[in-house]
Amino acid sequence: MPLTGRKTLTQYLIEERRRFPEASGDFNALILDVAMACKAIARAVAFGALGDVLGNHAADAQGQGGSVNVQGETQKKLDVVSNEYFLRITEWGGHLAGMASEEMDAPYQIPETYPRGKYLLVFDPLDGSSNIDVNVSVGSIFSVLRAPAAEEREVTEADFLQPGTQQVAAGYALYGPTTMLVITVGNGVAGFTLDPNLGEFILTHPDLSVPADTQEFAINASNSRFWEAPVKRYVDECLAGKTGPRGKDFNMRWIASMVAEAHRILMRGGVFLYPRDNRPPPNGAAHRSPQGAGLLGSGPAPAQDATNPGRLRLLYEANPIGFIMEQAGGRASTGRVPMLGVQPEGLHQRIGLVFGSKHEVERIERYHAEPA
Ligand code: AHG
Ligand code: MN
Ligand code: MN
Ligand code: MN
Repeated sequence: MPLTGRKTLTQYLIEERRRFPEASGDFNALILDVAMACKAIARAVAFGALGDVLGNHAADAQGQGGSVNVQGETQKKLDVVSNEYFLRITEWGGHLAGMASEEMDAPYQIPETYPRGKYLLVFDPLDGSSNIDVNVSVGSIFSVLRAPAAEEREVTEADFLQPGTQQVAAGYALYGPTTMLVITVGNGVAGFTLDPNLGEFILTHPDLSVPADTQEFAINASNSRFWEAPVKRYVDECLAGKTGPRGKDFNMRWIASMVAEAHRILMRGGVFLYPRDNRPPPNGAAHRSPQGAGLLGSGPAPAQDATNPGRLRLLYEANPIGFIMEQAGGRASTGRVPMLGVQPEGLHQRIGLVFGSKHEVERIERYHAEPA
């Protein structure tokens, strides 16, 4: 008899596993370990500056960590703490051959004391870090790949460079008014709500799907002067509202926590854009002057290779969220081609990302396909 009339994450995974009689249970155990890491992060996020009941670790959950990660970002303490939780809670189980994350330059090798497993775990331990000190929802994102069979125990960066279609599972935790875990194991998308009293993720959204149409878009409009023409056209048309070519009004949202945007889009539809653009390269190299001033500038940027590949990372942001969106009947794209088909070239590769309601993503791809 299911607990409280609803299924736990464990029950959902076991029932999903029955589709594969030969399954060993390794995969389920890994997902449950990831869920445990997310519960630990949820607790750290919830206690914020309080730390534990004695005030210990108060310094762990907020504020700058002082170090700079491979992305060139100053790490928040919770970036580092969350990364540690993922490593410590998943490395021992014998399910993993290695791990990679936003917060680690190189792949993480499983300590010799633990058996080597057959999966790779790639994760963004804390997504939306800039929101943590201002108490806005943040999340964690994870992706599970198969580890290539190999004699030697060490994993290499190349082992992780698999297209998104190779993912066997993906998900996110959202640390919001409620803590939720949303996952796909390749058979649709399920949402679980953490019951803080039980410490269990309970199945509350068994079959999430993204509406194909929407009147809500999400983009950081402060970058508009760097956008390429197809993006500018798409946003201008949304802003023109019902008197413009779309014939309907649009609403805009931007939370700066992609997990929160993704969840909103899963729940009610929408489209998220963090496109590649023509922002000057950080090293100040010579670049084409950005077009126009103000919110939407005047005149589209001429078509050419963008100077900025995009902000979001392919392996542990775009691909897992993309897998979830596609499994929920939505679409994920670079703006030009399907995201999950992209062949990764680097562990921390950045890429333009557009995802959400199918018809909107298809429209944005059409605009990119039209001659400049
Ligand atoms: P992270 O905190 O893991 O570095 O990712 C933050 C990402 C994503 O969550 C969000 O949509 C985007 O950065 C916000 O970027 P801007 O601050 O440029 O709006
Ligand atoms: Mn992130
Ligand atoms: Mn992050
Ligand atoms: Mn970051």
